Amino acid sequence: MRIDILTLFPEVFEAYFGASIIGRAVSSGLVRIFYTNFREFTDDKHRTVDDKPFSGGPGMVMKCKPVFDAVEHVCRDATVEVTRVLLTPQGERLNQRMVEELAGTEHLVLLCGHYEGFDERIRQGLGAREISIGDYVLSGGESAAMVVVDAIVRLLPGSLGDDESAANDSFSDGLLEHPQYTRPRAFRGMEVPEVLLSGNHAEIEAWRRSESRKRTMQRRPDLLDREGDAGASTDNQ
Ligand code: ADE
Repeated sequence: MRIDILTLFPEVFEAYFGASIIGRAVSSGLVRIFYTNFREFTDDKHRTVDDKPFSGGPGMVMKCKPVFDAVEHVCRDATVEVTRVLLTPQGERLNQRMVEELAGTEHLVLLCGHYEGFDERIRQGLGAREISIGDYVLSGGESAAMVVVDAIVRLLPGSLGDDESAANDSFSDGLLEHPQYTRPRAFRGMEVPEVLLSGNHAEIEAWRRSESRKRTMQRRPDLLDREGDAGASTDNQ
């Protein structure tokens, strides 16, 4: 899979994408991630990427030209379908079903906005899918892009090791994940549930399923209505 990240701050991705599961997926060639700075597509001496909104108002707006030129540049040699995604708090809210869809694409272009947002013609003209990672406003789309890439890459076949599995993740079946324990059996008076030490796989499976439902009922009852259509979101814990 190829992912292009279009941003004003390519340097912020380095540490996060160099470590752990994503770092491993990049080194092994499962995913190729390229960074492009919108500023490379300006032609004034100040490398201006934003401007004041017409008719006034606070903040600055990302200009059309550097954004269109950057997208056209990274798509110029594409031989597969390119999926364009604009990270914005006005987008469709990200969930695991969307992550699965995006993980099935071959070439993803993620556009990280800054300032007050993008000129509306960027939305109109690029035909990009608009995605929000939640109902709050970030100072830029970079952290949202990290979330999207992280969630996608762990689903790519071969990205998790043998003892890691996305199949048991919270949300993979529309429910939150069951509790997990590791050694020791007792810690500060708190015991590991007996059933997990029993070696009875059928009972362990039944316990996990029941804990999973109980936890979902207590914390996210909204997910139970959607169980089965995998309409939920995020990660393991
Ligand atoms: N940019 C600013 N806020 C955002 C959000 N919540 N999701 C995606 N991109 C954003």
